[in-house]
Amino acid sequence: MSMKRIVKLFSLLIVTGMVMVSCEGPMGPQGPQGSQGTKGEPGATVACTECHNQDVVETKAREYEHALHFSGTAFEEGSRAGCAPCHSDQGFRFVVDNNTPATFVPDPANAGKYLNNYSVDALTASLPGPISCFTCHSSLHTTYNGEDFSPLTTVAEVPMTMWGGTKTINFAKSNGNLCAKCHQPRPVTASSGNVIDYALLVSDPNTKYTLSSISYRTGIHYGAQGAIAGGVGGIQFGSGYANSSHTANLSCGSCHMAEPRTLSGGHSFSVADLYTGCNIGGCHTNMSATSPTFTNAVDDITGLLSDLATKINEIGNGHDILQKDPTDDQYHGYLDIYDAGSNPTGYWKNPDQGNVSFPPVTNAQFGAIINYQLVFRDGSTGVHNYLYTKKLLENTLAAW
Ligand code: HEC
Ligand code: HEC
Ligand code: HEC
Ligand code: HEC
Ligand code: HEC
Repeated sequence: MSMKRIVKLFSLLIVTGMVMVSCEGPMGPQGPQGSQGTKGEPGATVACTECHNQDVVETKAREYEHALHFSGTAFEEGSRAGCAPCHSDQGFRFVVDNNTPATFVPDPANAGKYLNNYSVDALTASLPGPISCFTCHSSLHTTYNGEDFSPLTTVAEVPMTMWGGTKTINFAKSNGNLCAKCHQPRPVTASSGNVIDYALLVSDPNTKYTLSSISYRTGIHYGAQGAIAGGVGGIQFGSGYANSSHTANLSCGSCHMAEPRTLSGGHSFSVADLYTGCNIGGCHTNMSATSPTFTNAVDDITGLLSDLATKINEIGNGHDILQKDPTDDQYHGYLDIYDAGSNPTGYWKNPDQGNVSFPPVTNAQFGAIINYQLVFRDGSTGVHNYLYTKKLLENTLAAW
């Protein structure tokens, strides 16, 4: 039975404001979404309806039905130990509870090889479940009163897995760290399994890139938002980096969980066509889809990003090296290298198209590919952190 259905059923059962529970607890069978379950004090009198009412749980749950966290399928990846920290409810709580480091260490079983510590144990990997209320509000159902929504599961600073823990995302408005713990880029690794030395991409820009192999999927994965919004973790060529005032003054929720409109805001986490978080005291007054502050920033970043794609594609001397996504004709940051499963029509290294070898790229050019992925996959075209995004793209365009 889905959690939603259990809650609906449960709501029907609550007729008075207070119910008695014993240590056995009133729980039905644990649903497949894997929430905590009841740990009630023996015989304690608790106010379930403090939360289980129209204004609290039911409202948020209705908003949450429109969240990709709820409706998406990426939690299925949570059955893999290295994916679970960000893709499953249990996996996220495992890395928080164990303070799992983002470091790489020599593999004791394989000389010369490395292990990425940022993963979960086998038991946790066997319990994938979608991100739920309990993922972010891990104290729910502990004391059974309205206070259980806080504290959030974690708001601690976030050692970046992309950088093997040597860089950290830390929002002054610390609620943002909850989101950034998952919405952060992932490491590029060498054949040893160790994270590559990104500093070399900047310090030795003209040497041929040999730190890792390059395939269709090489790169930083999807969740670039924490890095871009926090202004940390790009391959920073040149100097002059600065952050937008959003970085110090907002948390992710300031915009993504602002007063709901249509299907956006609140616990939908969607900010599509939502300006209620912008137009508040001390911030903007008339922000909208057509206001120049917004459109100029978006146009500027879109233009720079497109210039960068063009410059990267020139490396191929007549053939793009970035894959053009067939669904929207945009470059998402994948390389157009043959991959039997994911890119069977890829041009480079395609056995059916003459097995053309992928052109050599320099360290700077490889850094440019990473920065392209960071900005494209951030998905905000400058809204998260205009100044950092702009400088990162301008300096990358000037790097070779
Ligand atoms: C601090 C707020 C809060 C209190 C107090 C509270 N609950 Fe919940 N409960 C929740 C939330 C949030 C959910 C998840 C709802 C969802 O996913 O739609 C939930 C879910 C449930 C579920 C569905 C199964 C599950 O574990 O997800 C049951 C059953 C339940 N609560 C029973 C109770 C009972 C019985 C009490 C009183 C003894 C109680 N709750 C008190 C917040 C609370
Ligand atoms: C436990 C890890 C985790 C946490 C914590 C988390 N997210 Fe997510 N988020 C994800 C994953 C994974 C997806 C993709 C879900 C899918 O596709 O099934 C996602 C999707 C999203 C999306 C939709 C993206 C799209 O492509 O439409 C938004 C917006 C979002 N998250 C914002 C937030 C905000 C804001 C917070 C903090 C309040 C947050 N997330 C916290 C893992 C997380
Ligand atoms: C450090 C956190 C993190 C780890 C580890 C992680 N992911 Fe993700 N992944 C995310 C986030 C966040 C999103 C959603 C980002 C967005 O929508 O912008 C995502 C999105 C995805 C998506 C959906 C992409 C789409 O839009 O279609 C897939 C598939 C995926 N991840 C697979 C995996 C696999 C497989 C692994 C393990 C090999 C993995 N992820 C490990 C954070 C992570
Ligand atoms: C991805 C993380 C995330 C998930 C999933 C999530 N919440 Fe929240 N929730 C937050 C954050 C962050 C805040 C604080 C928002 C703010 O700063 O105003 C919050 C605030 C709340 C509050 C207000 C609490 C208070 O003390 O004012 C309630 C109630 C709540 N959430 C209920 C829910 C329910 C019910 C669900 C499941 C349907 C849920 N949340 C799922 C992140 C999450
Ligand atoms: C200043 C407001 C603001 C802040 C703060 C903010 N975002 Fe966003 N975010 C946006 C806007 C606007 C978009 C573009 C949404 C669109 O085009 O629908 C976006 C896009 C996204 C997307 C991609 C959604 C998609 O549909 O592809 C994700 C995921 C996301 N943000 C997560 C985060 C996280 C995590 C944080 C904090 C680290 C954050 N955002 C902070 C405004 C904000």
